[in-house]
Amino acid sequence: MMKKLSFWITILILVSCSTAQMSVDPSVKGTTGQKAMVVSADPLASEVGSSIMNKGGNAWDAAIGVQFALAVVFPVAGNIGGGGFAVFRESSGEVGSLDFREKAPKRADRDMYLDDQGNIDGRKSLEGHLAAGVPGSVDGMVQLYDKYGSLPWSDLVQPAVELAREGFILTEEGAANLNRGTKLIREVNKYEVHLLKEVEWKAGDKLVQEDLARTLERIRDDGRDGFYSGETAKLIVDEMQSGGGIISYDDLESYQSVWREPLIGNYRGKRIISMPPPSSGGVALIQLLEGVEAFPISRFGHNSWKSVHVMTEVEKRVYADRATYLGDPDFYEVPVDMLLNEDYIRNRMADIKLNRVTPASDIKKGNVEIVESVQTTHFSVVDPDGNAVSITTTLNSYFGCKVLVKGAGFFLNNEMDDFSVKAGVPNQFGLVGAEANEIVPEKRMLSSMTPTIVDDQDGLFMVVGTPGGSTIITSVFQTILNVIDHGMNMQQAVNARRVHNQWLPDRILSEDHALNESVKKKLIRLGHTFEERGNIGRVDAILVLPNGDLEGGADPRGDDAAIGF
Ligand code: DON
Repeated sequence: MMKKLSFWITILILVSCSTAQMSVDPSVKGTTGQKAMVVSADPLASEVGSSIMNKGGNAWDAAIGVQFALAVVFPVAGNIGGGGFAVFRESSGEVGSLDFREKAPKRADRDMYLDDQGNIDGRKSLEGHLAAGVPGSVDGMVQLYDKYGSLPWSDLVQPAVELAREGFILTEEGAANLNRGTKLIREVNKYEVHLLKEVEWKAGDKLVQEDLARTLERIRDDGRDGFYSGETAKLIVDEMQSGGGIISYDDLESYQSVWREPLIGNYRGKRIISMPPPSSGGVALIQLLEGVEAFPISRFGHNSWKSVHVMTEVEKRVYADRATYLGDPDFYEVPVDMLLNEDYIRNRMADIKLNRVTPASDIKKGNVEIVESVQTTHFSVVDPDGNAVSITTTLNSYFGCKVLVKGAGFFLNNEMDDFSVKAGVPNQFGLVGAEANEIVPEKRMLSSMTPTIVDDQDGLFMVVGTPGGSTIITSVFQTILNVIDHGMNMQQAVNARRVHNQWLPDRILSEDHALNESVKKKLIRLGHTFEERGNIGRVDAILVLPNGDLEGGADPRGDDAAIGF
C-alpha cells in the first residue's frame, strides 16, 4: 500500500514539475566582454560608461559618467534631481555602499499631505513642488568620486554635457516617454517647457537640452557647489517659491550622502551584498533568499506552481515585515539584526505548506489598492580590474513630480510619496507603512531599491538591480534564483518572465505568459489569485562566466544595452 502511494506521489511530482517548466531559449546569450561591461537603460549611457573605462577609468568613474548621461538621455528616470543607492565591491573583495537617497526638507511635517479631516489631500505627495525631496544624486556622485574616482572629474561629466548640448536622437521608447509625460508636465509647469512640443515627439527626432547642459557644466566645473549652491541652488529655490514648494538653500547646503555598511546574506554558498536601510531592498532580498533556501527550488523548476507558491508565501511574510519595521535608521530603530537572524527567518517561514495558501490577513491586516506606472533606473558596471558597482537611481514616478526646474532643465523627484503619508494607507505602489516610515524633517523615505552584488570564494559572481517600485525586490530575487537555482545564463535570467507578491494586495502580479495555463490553474485551485501586468522590472545585470568573461544581461523590456570589451 505504502509502496503504491509513494509511486503515485513520485509520478505526481514528476508530472507537476515537467508541466511547470517554461522553456528557456538555449540560444539566448547576452553580450560578452573579456575585461569590462556596462549595462544600463540606454545605449548612449552604456557607451559613455564603456568609453570611460576604455580610457583607463575604473568602475566608479564609469558609473558616475553613466549617472550623468542617463540624466540627459533617459530623463524619465535618469536624474540629477533625484537620488539613489550604490553598492560596490572592490576587486580585493572589500565591499561598501553609499546612500544618496533624497531627504525630507526641513520644513516638512508628518501631516503635510493630509487635509483638515486627516485624509490624504489629493495628489500633493506625487505631483508638484511639495512632492520633492532634497535631491541626493549629485552629492552621491561627488562622494563616490572623492573616494574612488581616478580620471579627472570633468571627464566624467563632459559626455553628459555634450549629449545635452548637441542633442541626441530619440528612440521610439524615448519619444513615447516624453509624450506620456506631456499632459502632467504641462499642468505642473507654468512656463513653456522645451521638452514639450505642440505635435508629439517621434523616433528619430533630436532632443537638445540647453538649460540642462549649462547646469551640467556648473557641476562639471564646481562639483558639489555646482548644484547645491550658486546658480543651480538659486534656480531650485526660485522654482520652489514660485510653485509653493519648501526646499530651501539650507536644505540644499546641508544635504549629505551617507556611507553605510552593506548588508551581507548567504544563499546556497554565495554571498549576497545589498543595500541596508533606508532601503528595504537588502533586508527583504536576504529574507526572501534565505526564506526559500530550505525548499528545492531548482527541482521545483522555473515558474512551476511549487516555485511560484513558495515564493509567494515567503514574499507575503517579508513584505509584511517591511511595512512594519523598516524606515530610515537615522530616525527610527530598524531591527535589522532580528529581521536577518537565521532562526527568525526559519520561524517566520515555518508555517509555509505546499498545499495551503496563507491569506494575507492571517499575516497582518491592511487594505491596499493600485499600482501606477512608474520609473526608476538601474545600471551595473564591472571594470578591467574586477571592481563592480551597482547603482539604482530614481525620480520615483516617471519624470518625478513633473517640475522641470525653470532655467536649469532637470526634473525634480516626487520621493516624498515613498514615506508613509498616512499610516496604513497605501502609496502609489500599494505599499503600506507606519511610524517607522512617517515623515520627519530631514529623514529619508523608505525605498525598495535593491542594487546588489553576489560573490563567492572565487570572487565576483553577479551585479544586479532593477527599477519597478515594490517589484524591485522580487525581480532581483527571481534573477538570482534564475541563475543559481535554474541554471540560466545572465540574458536568459533577465529575459525570463516574472511574478510578484507584496503581501498586500493579496494577489500574484504576473507578467504576460509568465506561467503556463496548467500552472496557473493549479495555483488558482490552491487559493491564489492573479493580476496580469505587461512588464515587471527592467533588470540590467552582469554575470562572471566560468572562464572569467563577463556576460551582460540587458533587459529587452526597454532600450537597455550591454556594452563590453
Ligand atoms: O525608492 C523606491 O523604492 C521607489 N521610489 C522606486 C520607484 C521605482 O522603482 C519606479 N520604477 N519603475
